[in-house]
Amino acid sequence: MTRIVIKRKIKSFNKIITVDSDKSLSIRSLLIGSQSYGLCKIKNLSQSGDILSTIKGLRKLGIKIFFKNKICYLYGNGLNGFKYKKNISIDAGNSGTFARLLLGLIIKSPHEIRLVGDNSLTKRDFKRIADPLKQFGAKFKLKNKNNLPLKVIGSEYLKPINYFEKRGSAQCKSSVILAALNTPGNTIITAKKSRNHTELFLKYLKLPIKVTGKKEYDIIKISGENQFKSFDYEIPGDISSSAFFIVLTLLSKNSKLRIKNVNINPSRTGFIKIINKMGANVKFINKRHVCGEKLADVFVKSQNNFKPINCPVKLNSNAIDEFLIIFLLATKASGVSSFKKLEELNKKESPRLKLASNILKKIGVKVKLGPGSIKIFGNPKLSINKKILINNYYKDHRIFMTSVIAALSLGGKWTIEDKESHISSFPSFLRILQKIGYNF
Ligand code: S3P
Repeated sequence: MTRIVIKRKIKSFNKIITVDSDKSLSIRSLLIGSQSYGLCKIKNLSQSGDILSTIKGLRKLGIKIFFKNKICYLYGNGLNGFKYKKNISIDAGNSGTFARLLLGLIIKSPHEIRLVGDNSLTKRDFKRIADPLKQFGAKFKLKNKNNLPLKVIGSEYLKPINYFEKRGSAQCKSSVILAALNTPGNTIITAKKSRNHTELFLKYLKLPIKVTGKKEYDIIKISGENQFKSFDYEIPGDISSSAFFIVLTLLSKNSKLRIKNVNINPSRTGFIKIINKMGANVKFINKRHVCGEKLADVFVKSQNNFKPINCPVKLNSNAIDEFLIIFLLATKASGVSSFKKLEELNKKESPRLKLASNILKKIGVKVKLGPGSIKIFGNPKLSINKKILINNYYKDHRIFMTSVIAALSLGGKWTIEDKESHISSFPSFLRILQKIGYNF
């Protein structure tokens, strides 16, 4: 295991960067492509660990994927067209999104498929996916009735379902949407609002999906068993990866940053809304649409004063992957910030709410932790002079990257374990830091 040592803050910078491509869209383009007929061309696919696990898994299911001039080509085999040997085992690595969405696509599989993952994924809840997929007709065996390794055996006689998704989990919603593609009849999902990439993707492909937006929920109707042709797709930069550099710029002195080609789908920009409420002034420039998704360049300048926030619960699922970095900004706010109903944050690659509280205490910030809530007592003058060790036992990529940004913006002498973890979502993270001026 490698570690990184950071002994000083980053110097002022004024740069233009691009971040790695969006993880959610990269995984969806491969999975949805695998169900189409013909050759898909996917530009700008992320090269992160989660996407490599997806490619490996799909290849095991008989999908041909190759790269030419950095473009990904994938031969879709049609709905329910996976071809594989008996007794296969698919390793989803660290990727909850791949594991959970894939399950939706294999509920018609004639042979048993085993799904495994790394230590972190093995601790996560898969009952939330197995429960609705069982209603379609598939059979599941889960370790401790909850976890990986699991075994799934599909059914030839699937029936559409009515599903109520109450957590605001895009993975649960998307798994059921993908299952509906392979099921005759109309599946109806009432889903608490969460990232809507799967819905937009299917609309982009002109598939029969109808979304009716209500205040807190969407009603999604999908009519299944409609074969579709292969497609071209282009993946934008990831707003979740951009978030680390946005907060680094805000907290550094006399710095400016432009991040090109970032996905700004409103169901992903809760983070921007939250930090702008705290007084940041992050701007979207040159807004445009590509393949049914909204894109822009993101512009941000460093700043001195941040207001504390009583974070609106309705923004939680639209900022779910950015809370660690939002908490870091809250440490510099002029007062107490409060975040509630974040139980889901403890169900990520690590129990992030608890770990955030431990790390903040370690660096001298007062916090009050509840089962799904945290209060952070900000201090605009916060600066660190001591040694900090971050163990990162769960090898959580976002714990690693948030700790690096904390070290570069707050000072102190930091040793941060498990440098490799960032590769699962953002392999060029350290290279970009070098580009904007930090020498490791
Ligand atoms: C994702 C949904 C979110 C998010 C994850 C990616 C997706 O998970 O945390 O990183 O691509 O659908 P949940 O749906 O479990 O909230």
